[in-house]
Amino acid sequence: MKQTSVPPDIQKRVKKLHDLIKYHDKLYYDQAKPEITDFEYDRLYRELKDLEAEYPSLKTKDSPTQKVGESASKNFKSVAHRVPMLSLDNTYSLEELKEFDERVQKGLGGEKYQYVCELKIDGVSIELIYEKGQLSHAVTRGDGEKGDDVLENVKNIPSLPMKLKGSNVPDRVEIRGEVFFTAKDFEAINKEREEADLPLFANPRNTAAGTLKTIDPTESAKKPLHILLYYVFSPEKLPFDTQDESLEWLKKMGFPEDKHYRLCKNIEQVHDYCGEYEKKRGQICFDCDGVVLKINDFKQREKLGTTSKIPRWAIAFKFAAQKAETTLKAITLQVGRTGAITPVAELEPVQLEGTTVSRATLHNEDEIARKDLRVGDRVIVEKGGMVIPKVLQSLPEKRKGNEKVFKMPTTCPACGSKLEREEGEAAWRCENAACEAQVERRIEHFCGRDALDIRWAGPAVVRQLLDEKLIRDYADLYELKQSDVADLERKAEKSAQNLIGQIEESRKRTLGRLLFGLGIRHVGVHIAEIIASRYKDLWSASEAAEEELTATDGIGPIVAHSIAAFFANPANVKILKKLEKGGVNFKRLKEEEPSGEQPFAGKTFVFTGELKGYSRSEAEGIAKKLGAKASGSVSKLTSYVVAGEAAGSKLKKAKELGVEVLTEDKFNSMIKKFK
Ligand code: IVH
Repeated sequence: MKQTSVPPDIQKRVKKLHDLIKYHDKLYYDQAKPEITDFEYDRLYRELKDLEAEYPSLKTKDSPTQKVGESASKNFKSVAHRVPMLSLDNTYSLEELKEFDERVQKGLGGEKYQYVCELKIDGVSIELIYEKGQLSHAVTRGDGEKGDDVLENVKNIPSLPMKLKGSNVPDRVEIRGEVFFTAKDFEAINKEREEADLPLFANPRNTAAGTLKTIDPTESAKKPLHILLYYVFSPEKLPFDTQDESLEWLKKMGFPEDKHYRLCKNIEQVHDYCGEYEKKRGQICFDCDGVVLKINDFKQREKLGTTSKIPRWAIAFKFAAQKAETTLKAITLQVGRTGAITPVAELEPVQLEGTTVSRATLHNEDEIARKDLRVGDRVIVEKGGMVIPKVLQSLPEKRKGNEKVFKMPTTCPACGSKLEREEGEAAWRCENAACEAQVERRIEHFCGRDALDIRWAGPAVVRQLLDEKLIRDYADLYELKQSDVADLERKAEKSAQNLIGQIEESRKRTLGRLLFGLGIRHVGVHIAEIIASRYKDLWSASEAAEEELTATDGIGPIVAHSIAAFFANPANVKILKKLEKGGVNFKRLKEEEPSGEQPFAGKTFVFTGELKGYSRSEAEGIAKKLGAKASGSVSKLTSYVVAGEAAGSKLKKAKELGVEVLTEDKFNSMIKKFK
């Protein structure tokens, strides 16, 4: 054991390990969206422990090794469920549904009965408690006996009433349902992550779970969660006796409704419903993984009762995730914009859930090794609902002996430079910024819709420009002349027309768009806007020290490090100079400026309806300039709703929540003195 002073490089490494472990702890425990595998996490943790054993003075109180294992619940109040949150018996077979029906028939001793069939939403279950008509708790399932009260995040669900409608509301009512993302919203979230070079979320369910567990409710407010409710009960008598009536009651109380439910007179009708929706599941806007059938009449439910774990009056029929067998023809490598190398399975095309699957991501090298996938293997691929197709497993018993074990190359498939793998990261990277594959991806990104928006420069045109050696990087776009692209335009016909005109237009874009377009790792649209509002031009931003960036609200250490590293790289600086020479705007535009005065700091505005004097984004821009946040949905955290003509549900929601509503005139008078 060394008692001597700790060498500076070890001190530096330990600090880095603290930051990394804390960062990954936060992602894992608080946001349920880990970016590295448990294996990789354990490796970081072990390295820190080993260094602390060697240099005991490093074992400080704030070291992540000195904390007792955190639990997911530490940030939320634990609330006991008055009635345990049971799960459901489930089956994949229609035959077993029939057996369930026979048990029901027996249990009810010849009484007539009906089922209600509902879609089984693949989300996160939640119990809402309304006291005197007011939403007072929103509790996760937890261990079934008690869960976490995630009320503040649930309040951000735009369609959820905070108050029950009408005057005749029960004193206390408990309502259970499912929180989820729609397919469209989930795709949008992942697109944003892709742009920020963050790992994609695997499915909507995990993303919803993570969002509900977000500590900062202003963060969860940015993600449009949805909710549907399917189970209502109360210590007092409610004005209905059946499931279908309870669903109608929920609608009357102001809850969003799922119109897909159906009353079924017998098990044959239930079978029809299951068959119909198994085929249609791809058309439903949320991820639905089966059907829940429930006895409609509550008295009959009581008669059937529950076991210690599950009710005897309901069962879930689960749709099978479609699987198919095919051949893994090859494993190719994709080089991303920031050099991350992703192995991709090239498959013998096979039909799954109505689509042809011929490729699937294999994520990283460890995943291939863990599944022992070999080129030439027969493999099982799976696609369930909205889940990205994946290679589940290989079939080693079908090997002929000529299958090849995949070996991650040590050099980049595009440029041949040596690949590197950073501590704590799953991906190998090509660190050569001049790598042609990276360059191509970067140019595509630079021209993208949220960046410099050079619409005609899509991937095909970018490819041609590179092939013809007309450009080598995105800054070269600004040296192109009409005569350079004339030939290209003729060949590409419409696709390259007016390319020069659009490049000209793009010289005037905002600083935020430029910052996003540069393709700095971890800098998505939002972070780029933060930087643009803080610095007056690109060069000032480029001079910011890592510490200064970290101290900026909304920018964490990893992002700050990445930004500083980008600007410290002379090759990047050279390109920036070329961009500047090419006439690209480097200055923060007026609309990006934070106002000298920030009278609305800490306030959140929602604009709704038609405003006379501004478009919605103009109005949001004004509010933001005065320090406010602008949001698209109303929640308890909203400070003001500015309602124009024909304002609808957002205005209604504001009234329900007691959020202050402003007319456009009132808003004008509030901002007048700051204009
Ligand atoms: S009824 C006691 N209805 O699936 C019965 N559950 O696998 C309460 N789920 O725990 C549940 N959609 O989280 C019911 N239409 C639906 C559902 C549904 C999704 C979830 C729920 C339940 C789990 C059972």
